[in-house]
Amino acid sequence: METQYSSLIQNLKERLNTCKNENELLKVKSDFLGKNGLITKEFLGIRNAKDKKYTGQQLNLLKKQAENLIIQTSLEIQNRQVSVDAIDISLPGRNVAEGTRHPISITINHISNIMRGYGFRVEQGNEIETEFYNFEALNIPPNHPARDMHDTFYINAKNLLRTHTSSVQIHTMMKTGVPLKIIAPGKVYRCDSDPTHSPMFHQLEGLYIDEDINFCHLKGILEKFIMDYFQKEIEMRFRPSYFPFTEPSAELDIKFRGKWLEVLGCGMVHDNVLKNVGINPEKYSGFAFGLGIERFAMLKFDIRDLRSFYENDLSFLRQFRGLT
Ligand code: PHE
Repeated sequence: METQYSSLIQNLKERLNTCKNENELLKVKSDFLGKNGLITKEFLGIRNAKDKKYTGQQLNLLKKQAENLIIQTSLEIQNRQVSVDAIDISLPGRNVAEGTRHPISITINHISNIMRGYGFRVEQGNEIETEFYNFEALNIPPNHPARDMHDTFYINAKNLLRTHTSSVQIHTMMKTGVPLKIIAPGKVYRCDSDPTHSPMFHQLEGLYIDEDINFCHLKGILEKFIMDYFQKEIEMRFRPSYFPFTEPSAELDIKFRGKWLEVLGCGMVHDNVLKNVGINPEKYSGFAFGLGIERFAMLKFDIRDLRSFYENDLSFLRQFRGLT
């Protein structure tokens, strides 16, 4: 009797081992414990048993043992399923929405990296300024006609949105003194708004002050910069110009598709500017330049309409994928 039971259990275990899912398990369960199951049939034999009570107890134990084995197998199948689900390599991956850098940021980074290579460090400035930093300290006194060049957004009587990054020159010279060699990229604001002018645009300021800095340094660095930025031979010229905060002043033009294009303003920092921030112009001299980021980006990426930068059109922006 005992060996008969143990071979039944052995048989059951072997069948359970082959079960891959709940359906197969249900089939095994019915083969052993169902109406005509192997174990169920054993119960019919109680009638003929010598010791009915003992046989009954043994059979109940056998049934219990079989049920436990089936429950255990069921749990194993469920667990196996969970761990298979956790690494279901057949599931398609979730898309990670990857952004692209804005062409203005790309251009700022590109220019800053070139300038860093020449020893300039990057300064950050404020977009809200006082008249002192935006005009007065830069040798643009009240009523000076140059203030007409900048149609300014005033916030109140004292504060305005900076019209150029040149205000960072003043902040930095006052903060760190000289010698210094900085660039300052950022947003600037003017009341202009038409297809080629935006009320907000970006500039990058440069300032290099030390003993014995002269116009040759200015020319050398800016010519090298144009070559490094465009990565090709480019015809350029320094054209005399006027800015209240530089003397002499110039504008740099480059030949682009057969036409002269103005790309930046520059000059030797005016003595009055140095004096305004307490620097001795007998001892120190230097140059400054200011360039328009949009202009440099348009030339590099062949963008014809300034407004594309601000429209947030994804098909425009995605063209710059991969650039940093
Ligand atoms: N601030 C000038 C502008 O906005 C550019 C400039 C900067 C010119 C530094 C000379 C020196 O047009």
